[in-house]
Amino acid sequence: MTKKLYHECHELISQGRAILTDLQHWGFESVPPLSAFSPLPLGQPEPVGVSQKSPGTLENLASQIQGCTLCPLSAERKNIVFGAGNPQADLVLVGEAPGREEDETGVPFVGEAGRLLEKILFAMQLSREAVYICNVIKCRPPHNRDPQADEIACCEPFLKQQLSVIKPQVIITLGRFATQTLLHTKDPISRVRGHWHEYEGIPLMPTFHPAYLLRSPAGKRDVWEDMKQVLQRLKG
Ligand code: URA
Repeated sequence: MTKKLYHECHELISQGRAILTDLQHWGFESVPPLSAFSPLPLGQPEPVGVSQKSPGTLENLASQIQGCTLCPLSAERKNIVFGAGNPQADLVLVGEAPGREEDETGVPFVGEAGRLLEKILFAMQLSREAVYICNVIKCRPPHNRDPQADEIACCEPFLKQQLSVIKPQVIITLGRFATQTLLHTKDPISRVRGHWHEYEGIPLMPTFHPAYLLRSPAGKRDVWEDMKQVLQRLKG
């Protein structure tokens, strides 16, 4: 074996170990067979969690929002972070607002929290490409501060339209902010997560934000319980 091949194998084994360790943290005692999540297989020609729907108009919506100056966040943003993923996804995940890396790339959840979100999706045998990911707020609030009421009021109609175009079977709200905005509630996330709610007739599961999980990894088990409910609902 050449030195290069040896290093590549070593790297792959280390990555595999890291994934298994993560799965253990999520509460897996063994690696589930792919068939365990049928009919949500990974890597099929038709992406996971997607059903046949008429093509939406997300592109139109994205072009409408280009150059938006409805609220003061437009002054400092580098990119509008509209949303990404499959416009026909059965599952939409809604976060709070772009952070620095999202502002720089124009893509939601590409920073550390995004990498954790990808791991959550991986544990669900889903991928970013199979689902649709967006935020309540499309432009980065300075220093990642909480979005303000007027900013939400300007941006929420875009989210509303995104959801009405995609018509997902299930919405997951990530964290307090997205949950309280979509459910029009002041209830704390710890009270509402893990229970089904509804947004415009669509089942909605609130769960902890991945950024919170980075600070409080103990919450991962709760998130996994919530994700199991989501998988059940998607299968049904
Ligand atoms: N946190 C969010 O809520 N959204 C992102 O896009 C990134 C981090």
